[in-house]
Amino acid sequence: MKDVEAAMMTPTSFDLREKRRHTLFADIWGELIPQVFEDVPRYYRFGNIVASFGFWELWVWQFVGTVALNPGDKVLDVCAGTNDIGIRLLQKQPAISVTAIDRSREMQEEGQNRARDYGVAIDSVIHDVHALPFPDRSFDVVTLQAASRHLQLNKVLPEIMRVLKPGGTFYHCDMLKPSNCLVEFAYLRFLRLSVAWTAFVFGSTEASRNCRNYFMDAIANFYTPEELSAIFRLVGFTNVTCDKSIWGGMVGFHKAQRPIG
Ligand SMILES: C[S@@+](CC[C@H](N)C(=O)[O-])C[C@H]1O[C@@H](n2cnc3c(N)ncnc32)[C@H](O)[C@@H]1O
Repeated sequence: MKDVEAAMMTPTSFDLREKRRHTLFADIWGELIPQVFEDVPRYYRFGNIVASFGFWELWVWQFVGTVALNPGDKVLDVCAGTNDIGIRLLQKQPAISVTAIDRSREMQEEGQNRARDYGVAIDSVIHDVHALPFPDRSFDVVTLQAASRHLQLNKVLPEIMRVLKPGGTFYHCDMLKPSNCLVEFAYLRFLRLSVAWTAFVFGSTEASRNCRNYFMDAIANFYTPEELSAIFRLVGFTNVTCDKSIWGGMVGFHKAQRPIG
């Protein structure tokens, strides 16, 4: 049934879903989320590990493992945050260049400190990712990890397509809406507990505490792995795959290519 729904994803249904997400979350995306990420850098990595009972590290390594890199590749990490992805990509293939873009100065400051600690260089651009400040066809690889739930995909995905070189590859990983409704039910309840537990352990700010329901609502209104594959195709990507998705699609790993022609 979910596959059928995904196959029926049309430009109009995608537009409607994005309008709904925007209506529900525009205020949170515009105000609360930036406040949350002012506070988060100090505990971002350990917070994720605690919240996921250790699975976060596994997901990040699994994602980095899906990214194919060639020496000389220019990589753009969208919503780069603490540069976790860029650092690991440079460890995997040191002969690449990585540009990080994120609107949170605090997350990127932490990212630059971490890059220095790991002895790698990452260019940093502070900017909203709904309009990418790069020329067309600039990058061989674009990555987007753990952020698309907070974004208007009908704006960001065409931008990613624009800045990719023809034949370039987009790698995406995020917590998705599970295709199986029983898994979704358990997952959303687990999230409620883990967000509360993490807030308690790390003494989060009021903004983070006010986001508790949002983290669940964002997933409940997001896309299943199959729907996301259909959306990537709608936007014009080709060779779209979602090779690995954990436990009924709680976390999905997508790969998509900008057509060569
Ligand atoms: C969960 S973090 C992911 C960070 C990153 N992948 C990492 O490993 O550190 C989400 C990031 O998305 C960024 N973000 C959210 N909305 C954004 C927007 N509209 N433009 C730019 N960055 C945004 C936040 O500032 C935050 O750093």
